[in-house]
Amino acid sequence: MAKSINLFMFFTLLTFAPLCFCHNTNGGGYLYPQFYDQSCPKAQEIVKSIVAKAVAKEARMAASLVRLHFHDCFVKGCDASILLDTSGRLISEKGSIPNKNSVRGFEVIDEIKSALEKECPQTVSCADIMALAARDSTVITGGPSWALPLGRRDSRDASLSGSNNNIPAPNNTFQTILTKFKLKGLNIVDLVALSGSHTIGNARCTTFRQRLYNQSGNSQADLTLDKSYASQLRARCPKSGGDQNLFALDFVSPTRFDNNYFKNLLSFKGLLSSDQILVTKNQESMELVKKYASNNEIFFEQFAISMIKMGNISPLTGSKGEIRKNCRKMN
Ligand code: HEM
Repeated sequence: MAKSINLFMFFTLLTFAPLCFCHNTNGGGYLYPQFYDQSCPKAQEIVKSIVAKAVAKEARMAASLVRLHFHDCFVKGCDASILLDTSGRLISEKGSIPNKNSVRGFEVIDEIKSALEKECPQTVSCADIMALAARDSTVITGGPSWALPLGRRDSRDASLSGSNNNIPAPNNTFQTILTKFKLKGLNIVDLVALSGSHTIGNARCTTFRQRLYNQSGNSQADLTLDKSYASQLRARCPKSGGDQNLFALDFVSPTRFDNNYFKNLLSFKGLLSSDQILVTKNQESMELVKKYASNNEIFFEQFAISMIKMGNISPLTGSKGEIRKNCRKMN
């Protein structure tokens, strides 16, 4: 009898204990997928429908929303610091080197926020909206889904220097990029899997030009870039000018979330230096690229795990931070 009561209590606890996947450093609380089930039951549905509408209007928006969450999480954690505009002493992260003229999707987040404020005022954080929009964008473009831990709160500040220093640059070395991931609690498996989000979206000429004309200061193109692919790229990314011209990160299926990105890397058709070095500079990451190129399912599984891990970087919980009414400014 005692044994069956214990067993009953065990299963009851298991049912009601929210799943905790978090890095519990910033507020004593934890994130769990059912966070809004009582306080705003329609939250996830509302986010999904506005993301779907935005992506139907412009396919690239899915990629932009995935990247927005990444650029938020790598600076002080996933706390919506990236959404704040400059005001008073606060300097926006939007003007940082990785973000300026590059990161996008702010209007979509605003639209979601205003719909959620109507449905359940001051309940759903801007940080959770971005995490949900990134998940939904992945699903809409054909990628995996996952139960997303929720309950992040929004920061009351931003960090321009954090944005400049913590987000990897496309011409960083493999070691520098891996170190930037490790500083956020992410490992080489996360690095390779998350780089797989370059299966969708675009990059500007200015982010990879060096590879086409002068990779190592000797006026030569990058030797690890396929020659005919390089000459195609040069046609619209000249030595000077055309900085903002856009190129698909995955030229095979630019709006479809799949493992073609990894296949491209194996044929030396990665667009960014930071993409191609995953196969040319490190044995372990090369093996991972091969694994994901040969098995889409394994890539999808790992991508979901790594996105949850990235989304759990230093969240504000409990009484830390706030739930902004307008994602662009503090309350
Ligand atoms: C590993 C280090 C990484 C580097 C160096 C890097 C660099 C870049 C660069 C330079 C661009 C093009 C930006 C522009 O031209 O304006 C870009 C686009 C993009 N990045 Fe990354 N990235 C990295 C990792 C990630 C991660 C971890 C994610 C998501 C989890 C991600 C998602 C994206 C997406 C989806 C785009 C396309 C955005 C759009 O079309 O608006 N990247 N990245």
